[in-house]
Amino acid sequence: MAKVYKIAVIKGDGIGPEIVDEAIKVLDALASVYDFDFRYNELLMGGNAYDITGDPLPQETIDGCKEADAILFGAIGGEKWDNLPREKRPESGLLRLRSELDLYANYRPVKVYDELIEASTLKKEVVEGVDLLVMRELTGGIYFGQPREKGENKAFNTMVYSKEEVVRIAKEGFEAAMRRDKRVCSVDKANVLEVSQFWREIVEEVAEAYPEVTLSHMYVDNAAMQLVRNPKQFDVILTGNIFGDILSDEASMISGSIGLLPSASVGGRVGLYEPIHGSAPDIAGQGIANPIATIASAAMMLRFSFGEESAADRIEQAIEQVLREGYRTRDIADYGAKEICSTTEIGSYIAEYVSKI
Ligand code: IPM
Ligand code: MG
Repeated sequence: MAKVYKIAVIKGDGIGPEIVDEAIKVLDALASVYDFDFRYNELLMGGNAYDITGDPLPQETIDGCKEADAILFGAIGGEKWDNLPREKRPESGLLRLRSELDLYANYRPVKVYDELIEASTLKKEVVEGVDLLVMRELTGGIYFGQPREKGENKAFNTMVYSKEEVVRIAKEGFEAAMRRDKRVCSVDKANVLEVSQFWREIVEEVAEAYPEVTLSHMYVDNAAMQLVRNPKQFDVILTGNIFGDILSDEASMISGSIGLLPSASVGGRVGLYEPIHGSAPDIAGQGIANPIATIASAAMMLRFSFGEESAADRIEQAIEQVLREGYRTRDIADYGAKEICSTTEIGSYIAEYVSKI
């Protein structure tokens, strides 16, 4: 009997719909190989949701996500909505969803595909073999801290972490390290911020339960520098919400294109899987977006939410094979392209390999 998996699908804005469609194409190809029955439920979030309902995160979307086994998400946002009040902006929809679903742990793995090593702006020797994970706390810190205010003459936000919040993300980081190279580098700004001193103390406490894992600490400014100086020194980078936001964008360039990197946000019952890039409104609708990050996010969904390790591997192998054979979207066309492909062509090649491998 087919295994049923209920997937809430949020395509979002800009290139979101195009790239999510390709991930669904690949999932459908996989479904026939493994006898999976994927049931998709399409839901609105972001600017498009605001345009239709007046709310970037309609209640129906929250309910639909809570009923699903996992959420596959594209991207949201665009200039069109930039002048809305904060709570109406597309980004607020995503932040509220993360919070509603308790998705406090954000996995942002950075791996270099050998075929694309030249695509990195960094030297080959520096990036070759990089395999790191940014473990970003996602539902706390300055993104959510109260009080917050934007007044006439001043504005402020609050960077706050409770013990419980640090303990749970630190555990997630150490657990991830146990499955990897057993090294955690906790990134903070403890030379200036009390909240970071606190973070550091709690991380030290949690570390006691993981004697096999080597723990180090680094200030965030230094970490930003070390990521481009010698990224191979990192295994798991454990950090708070805003530092993780910044460092993961920086780390993505190690791989050559932000269009390649997936992410998983977990913690609550239902995980959310999305590319780390944004909605790229400037190229939306042109069929040139790179769907690989979203397809790789679908692989993470299979692994994390459904425990379908071999199916996840299969998608990742298909991506590698397509790159090896020289199929490229425009963003990476300068690096070993045999054929420059549209968004849908790349999706179709990956889907084909998924069935063939
Ligand atoms: C990300 C994005 C979001 C964030 C935005 C869209 C709210 O940059 O997922 O990294 O800052 O978390
Ligand atoms: Mg970001």
